[in-house]
Amino acid sequence: MTSGGDSPGMNAAIRSVVRACAYYSVECLGVYRGYQGMIDNDFIPLNARSVKGIINKGGTFLKSARSMEFMTPEGRKKAYGNLVENNIDALVLIGGDGTFTGGVVFNKEYNFPLIGIPGTIDNDIFGTSHTLGYDTALNTTVEAIDKIRDTASSHNRLFFIEVMGRDAGFIALNAGVGAGAEEILIPEEDLGLERLLESLERSRRTGKSSSIVVVAEGDKTGKNVFELAEYVEENLPEYDVRVSVLGHMQRGGSPSCFDRVLASRLGVKAVELLLDNKTNLMVGLINNKVVSTDLEEAIKGSHEINKELLRVSDIMST
Ligand code: F6P
Repeated sequence: MTSGGDSPGMNAAIRSVVRACAYYSVECLGVYRGYQGMIDNDFIPLNARSVKGIINKGGTFLKSARSMEFMTPEGRKKAYGNLVENNIDALVLIGGDGTFTGGVVFNKEYNFPLIGIPGTIDNDIFGTSHTLGYDTALNTTVEAIDKIRDTASSHNRLFFIEVMGRDAGFIALNAGVGAGAEEILIPEEDLGLERLLESLERSRRTGKSSSIVVVAEGDKTGKNVFELAEYVEENLPEYDVRVSVLGHMQRGGSPSCFDRVLASRLGVKAVELLLDNKTNLMVGLINNKVVSTDLEEAIKGSHEINKELLRVSDIMST
């Protein structure tokens, strides 16, 4: 089942789970539209051949949803009834912390075996250095910023570019460094508006004709990206400022090779853990090794960003 915001690599993970099941002679069903499909009894039998030609496809062919009904005890009861009716005795949940939170509650109520695979572009899950789709989203974001830089430099403009990530700054920080942004605003480190003005002023004085400021959607300056642009225009009128919100394009596209390999590894591990009678775990990658973390810990723990990158970014924008 895939649930929550889709991410590139989810199809590759479904393929991996289905093929691992076929390898171990385990019957496998797909659930459409996440928890909502479970409630609506929307299942599809999957075999090794059902998942051909999808490793390179973005999105999720099982579709995804954020089910409000599953948040109610009645919804979860219906879901449980349908799982029993379809002879399903374990679940592999591919999604982010919302998906895992639903899984933990469900497991507590019905003691239903489940394993999570972290799939979100935000990379905000504890217990893995990379979530599925994050690497692809980073590359998509860098490519988009590169293109904006072309037009920014042609017009000597300053661009504020908002990137996704919910409350985390992984995409902003890494794409910002990768695309050579002058400033990067992330939720984890509020450097203040004064500092932003000083830095832009310094850039101008030292002869920079165009600039890129990457803003994480969850940044803590207290201003959204449009208000930030206005604020800078008011305080530094010599700048010609534009705003670009990259939005959902960051969630689409063919998964990178890294995400395909990660999905393949995590899917196999998820099935093997279930066959080993393990439950309530999330599979992830740490130091390039596939590991498992208690699902509740994965939700509660905090995946820290690498603040050293902020320092590197500062030095790079000299
Ligand atoms: O969690 C993935 C994500 O794309 C976030 O980066 C973003 O804040 C959110 O989902 C957008 O959600 P929706 O697709 O519901 O607008």
